[in-house]
Amino acid sequence: MENYPGRKNIAIFISGRGSNLKSLIRNSKQKNSLFKISLVISNNPEAVGLKYATKSKIKNYGIKYINNSYFEKESLKILKKYDLDLLCLAGFMKILSGNFIKNFSKPILNVHPSLLPKYKGLNTHLRAIKNKDKFTGATIHKVNEKLDSGKIILQKKVRISKKDDVKSLEKKVLKIEHEIYPKAIIKFLSNL
Ligand code: GAR
Repeated sequence: MENYPGRKNIAIFISGRGSNLKSLIRNSKQKNSLFKISLVISNNPEAVGLKYATKSKIKNYGIKYINNSYFEKESLKILKKYDLDLLCLAGFMKILSGNFIKNFSKPILNVHPSLLPKYKGLNTHLRAIKNKDKFTGATIHKVNEKLDSGKIILQKKVRISKKDDVKSLEKKVLKIEHEIYPKAIIKFLSNL
């Protein structure tokens, strides 16, 4: 992949399917993309998403999850070997500790499947349907020590129709995630 002055290096953490990773890889390969994906780490060595990284010749590591502190220690050792500007969580289902955030010392972004501050945590689509919300969406935000609470970088909403169930809503929201995550990264990096 071509490199040029001003291009930023990012790392990505995933846990499973990796559709956001796939979309970010596609974006990073565009001509003059502002970011390069230097490495991918998963807390699950079996994560399907790691295959996308391998296919695109991006260094990737599956760390067998023993506990949070082991994962954080091992991933920090790897991250420190790279000259990174940003870490992006893309379907990463563990909560990073304040200690990790402090030690990593570079900004961290996350994608969340709701219109934050609504529905922090899990089962966002089910909660939106149960509450008969008219809209839901996706949010890209900075990661801080509080779950899903950092500064919002970009958000986009989508209408919930009467016919929607968790599966159809997940599909709608994922489409939005794939659209706004690269945009949010570029917006964030441009202001660094
Ligand atoms: C995405 O919907 C993402 O927003 C969500 O997990 C899914 C991962 O999909 N993340 C969280 O809920 C984080 N708390 P992907 O692996 O296909 O990108």
